[in-house]
Amino acid sequence: MSLPGEAGKSVFITGASSGLGRQMAIEFARRGYRLALTARRLDLLQDLQGELGLPESALLIAALDVTDEAAVTRVLSEAQAFFGVLDIVVANAGIGHHARIGKLAFAKVRDTINTNVIGFMATVDAAVHCFEAQGHGHLVGISSVAAFRGLPAGGAYGASKSAVTAYLQALRAESHGSKILVTTLSPGFIDTPINRGAKSRPFVIPVEQGGKLLVDLIEKRVECASVPRWPWALVSRLIAILPTAVIARFR
Ligand SMILES: NC(=O)c1ccc[n+]([C@@H]2O[C@H](COP(=O)([O-])OP(=O)(O)OC[C@H]3O[C@@H](n4cnc5c(N)ncnc54)[C@H](OP(=O)(O)O)[C@@H]3O)[C@@H](O)[C@H]2O)c1
Repeated sequence: MSLPGEAGKSVFITGASSGLGRQMAIEFARRGYRLALTARRLDLLQDLQGELGLPESALLIAALDVTDEAAVTRVLSEAQAFFGVLDIVVANAGIGHHARIGKLAFAKVRDTINTNVIGFMATVDAAVHCFEAQGHGHLVGISSVAAFRGLPAGGAYGASKSAVTAYLQALRAESHGSKILVTTLSPGFIDTPINRGAKSRPFVIPVEQGGKLLVDLIEKRVECASVPRWPWALVSRLIAILPTAVIARFR
């Protein structure tokens, strides 16, 4: 493992204990970045720490529940102090509960919004404060192709990801011409625990491939991309314009 790659840039990731966050951490480490990895399950982060084998100066792990906004601000500031600068913040933590509206226990609707919207916004706001203080930074938000159209059994999740996309659109406009960059990545189906119970997972790709594609797009500093681009760039736009009678058959 080579250090430092990409000039030893530092990356802060929420939801790094599993799935895409974990795989992005592996991919960033392979490319020589310094990492601040956070999630609620510290034991999984400790396992990942062992697996990565990075020097102490290149890796910080911390338990963090993104729905605790004070903790988000504190942990992000600690990471900034540890590395001196935070170059990239990846707001990735998220959950997915799927059932028809009125059938999904409302506690799960609330959890989805608390995590995917409030927790996400808390991460973005803390990152913006940090970037403004240091004069630059790259904010990456993990949205979803589910943001493009509300689908049956995906009401809360789709609404939460539409909020992610809109929040980042606003930040991108607010940051225009500054040294704060904003990237919105919208995965299709990537094989992780979040979707393993799904009845169908069209065009699913392995998590290793997904992590590599995500980090490639972050390094390219794209504004927005579906992941993988093909076929989702086309499919998501098609889904957005299909008549309701067709969408109603997606059950
Ligand atoms: N996989 C896909 O196909 C796909 C497609 C579109 C979008 N996405 C999005 O990608 C992101 C990552 O999902 P994934 O596929 O990697 O699912 P995953 O394997 O279930 O991982 C979700 C991660 O989010 C963390 N998390 C959940 N609630 C949290 C909270 N309150 N505070 C802090 N961390 C929390 C989990 O860590 P702890 O439980 O340890 O806290 C875990 O590390 C999510 O935003 C998801 O919506 C995934």
